[in-house]
Amino acid sequence: MFQSILFPVRVILFLVLTRKTGGRKDEMFSAVYPGSFDPITLGHLDIIQRASRIVDRLYVTVFPNINKNPLFTVEERVALLKQSTAHLANVSVEHYDGLLINYAREKRITVVIKGLRAVSDFLTEFQMALMNKKMYPELDTIFMMSAAEYSYLSSSIVREIALLGGCVKGLVPMNVEEKLREKMLQKGGTK
Ligand code: PNS
Repeated sequence: MFQSILFPVRVILFLVLTRKTGGRKDEMFSAVYPGSFDPITLGHLDIIQRASRIVDRLYVTVFPNINKNPLFTVEERVALLKQSTAHLANVSVEHYDGLLINYAREKRITVVIKGLRAVSDFLTEFQMALMNKKMYPELDTIFMMSAAEYSYLSSSIVREIALLGGCVKGLVPMNVEEKLREKMLQKGGTK
């Protein structure tokens, strides 16, 4: 008799506990999309929009890339990203001055989103994904293929075109176009 009352109590307790602790459905699925975003391009924005439809929260985070000499300050890059993603409610823009794995650990994030344009991206991305996994085994990198129309696009090519007075319309969000024009004037280049 006592056993038959205890059984449903145990079942209810089990269901409540697994929903609270182990059930993936109740957890926020967060991911980080890291980059130097110097500046954000329409290719980046396309990945951000598509990734934001998959995860609950997407952190778009500006990291230092010690191999690159940036055109925009971190604050400018964050501001441009915030303006460009303002329409996406589940996207947060941040910056972090350190290793991606430390950021992910602090945020309890185990998924990194990266865009992959062409075979040329693969080697560096493969190396970074494996190195990050070695340092933080719970961390997985998910690659999203860039849209065909943006597969040739990169921040460095945009910077070069803008600095040499070319037109970047259709390559970057409009706020970035404007900011690039300002930068050009500051640097004393042609409009
Ligand atoms: O837009 P980029 O420059 O291709 O992005 C590269 C970036 C910033 C994602 C990469 O350099 C990075 O992860 N930097 C953070 C520092 C870090 O963790 N470095 C070790 C990588 S294995």
